[in-house]
Amino acid sequence: MSSSWLGLEGKVAIVTGGASGIGLNITNELLNNGVKVVVADLNGEEGQQSNGSYFMKCDVTNKVSVDQTVSKTVELFGSLDILVNNAGVNLPRLLVDDQGEKPEYELSEKDFDFMVAVNQKGPYLFAQASAKEMLKKGNGVIINVSSEAGQEGSAGQSCYSATKGAVIAFTRAWAKELGKHNIRVVAIAPGIIETTGLRTDAYNEALAYTRGVTVDGLSTDYSKSIPLGREGKLSEIADLVSYLSSDRASYITGTTFNISGGKSRG
Ligand SMILES: NC(=O)c1ccc[n+]([C@@H]2O[C@H](COP(=O)([O-])OP(=O)(O)OC[C@H]3O[C@@H](n4cnc5c(N)ncnc54)[C@H](O)[C@@H]3O)[C@@H](O)[C@H]2O)c1
Repeated sequence: MSSSWLGLEGKVAIVTGGASGIGLNITNELLNNGVKVVVADLNGEEGQQSNGSYFMKCDVTNKVSVDQTVSKTVELFGSLDILVNNAGVNLPRLLVDDQGEKPEYELSEKDFDFMVAVNQKGPYLFAQASAKEMLKKGNGVIINVSSEAGQEGSAGQSCYSATKGAVIAFTRAWAKELGKHNIRVVAIAPGIIETTGLRTDAYNEALAYTRGVTVDGLSTDYSKSIPLGREGKLSEIADLVSYLSSDRASYITGTTFNISGGKSRG
């Protein structure tokens, strides 16, 4: 083990959706800790990026694209130690548009298939291709980015919540299958955090409608709903992922870490 506390120097990671928001912060923190990071995301030029990561164009919903990204990573960097299944999408949609004003915000099959493909099928495809590589050397870590919505359910986001709940169940089950190969599988469930690319105007409009409020009425006063009284920082998510990636977390598998400042149902 290296002399740093986390000892991540020289490890190789893939971060899906690493071009924006949470994934970008995870990428940068892993880089700070000496990890070689491949960013697998939809749009960009393949190659070295200014932050030191290596970009590979990849659609997590496409098996050929995922398999190529994993094999190319091993070819270029010699191994794959850490997979962060982070790419995700969220379209706020009601099960039933009970106000009858905006049928486009009622969950359609197309919206359902899109969210399930990115948030649920993507992690499955990436975990499968990555675990095959990790098996060869008898160690590895898979970190799935779930959401507090996947633990608690979220009004106006039932399909999103369901995909994130699926990620929690994948985490438990894969940990049971892969533990004997020294591959750990862990999930994180962030609550409300600093704005990322996910919170677009279209997202805010859809969410407001599904909650029966105006966009301005979407709560930003967290003093009551979050015990720590504020939203989470992207760096706080990245710190947790770095820790879980490291051998300091060597006895942690099959579980989901809620990181939400203490926010809960009550
Ligand atoms: N932002 C939040 O409040 C929050 C809370 C809990 C969980 N999450 C989860 O964190 C993860 C990251 O979200 P974020 O807020 O940083 O969003 P973001 O939109 O800023 O980043 C998501 C990234 O995923 C990429 N992506 C989308 N579809 C893809 C595909 N098919 N193939 C490859 N890449 C794809 C996007 O291009 C983007 O770079 C998601 O899984 C999200 O569900 C976010």
